[in-house]
Amino acid sequence: MSNVHRHAVEVVPDAASLATRAAEWLIEQIAHAVQRRGRAVIALSGGSTPKAVFARLAQHPWRDRIEWNALHLVWGDERFVAEGDPASNARMTREALLDHVDVPASHVYPIPGDAGGATDEAFERAHVSAELYATTLHALNGGDRLHDDKPLFDVVMLGLGEDGHTASLFPGTLALDERDAWVVPVRTDNATAPIRITLTYPVLESTHALLFLVSGKAKRAIAQRVLGGDESLPAARIQPVGGMLWILDQDAAAG
Ligand code: 6PG
Repeated sequence: MSNVHRHAVEVVPDAASLATRAAEWLIEQIAHAVQRRGRAVIALSGGSTPKAVFARLAQHPWRDRIEWNALHLVWGDERFVAEGDPASNARMTREALLDHVDVPASHVYPIPGDAGGATDEAFERAHVSAELYATTLHALNGGDRLHDDKPLFDVVMLGLGEDGHTASLFPGTLALDERDAWVVPVRTDNATAPIRITLTYPVLESTHALLFLVSGKAKRAIAQRVLGGDESLPAARIQPVGGMLWILDQDAAAG
């Protein structure tokens, strides 16, 4: 069903060519999605690698090749912080991309956060935020359950953490086993780090195409393990219903 090969791995020379290649690929996927169903529903990722891709998309000539008003943008994960917080993925995306192009505000769905810190009370509120976001995603899916032959997303973008996490699916957390809830709050090992909110596997996997972006020497060892299929690592367990493309730069791929 997908116009992406089931699993493909591409290696490009450096971080700049990774951003360019990812931008080109996204432009193609968006065009296919708009042709297929009149819109492109994309789950974005945080992190430094997507930021460089967003910066490309916001520039000529790439920006002129996208039907921006056909995009619907959600986030695969978020830190449970206020929307203006420097750690917010939504803020990063706004600054790198959305401030420079014309995506209708009603097509942008940030994960609700607040400035409440990492307390138990904040975790409760993160739970409510996760449920609210699941309702948003259900509505985007026409109120329907997830169907393999009619995925929720056209594209899901993901990054790879040095510990093998992706989105906010961290090793050893309950979120990894969640099959019912579409969105859950997550506490990481670091008690002072913000609570995270993440889409769960069944939802991230409900995509026509999935893009993994990996850049830099620090990711080399973990990328090798994930691509080698070490299923103890959260990133290695993603099985999208559509195709999956990995783009690595030479630093991340060497060896
Ligand atoms: C985030 C994402 C996280 C990220 C990886 C890779 O919001 O940070 O949750 O999964 O994609 O940690 O990040 P880099 O692209 O910065 O290496």
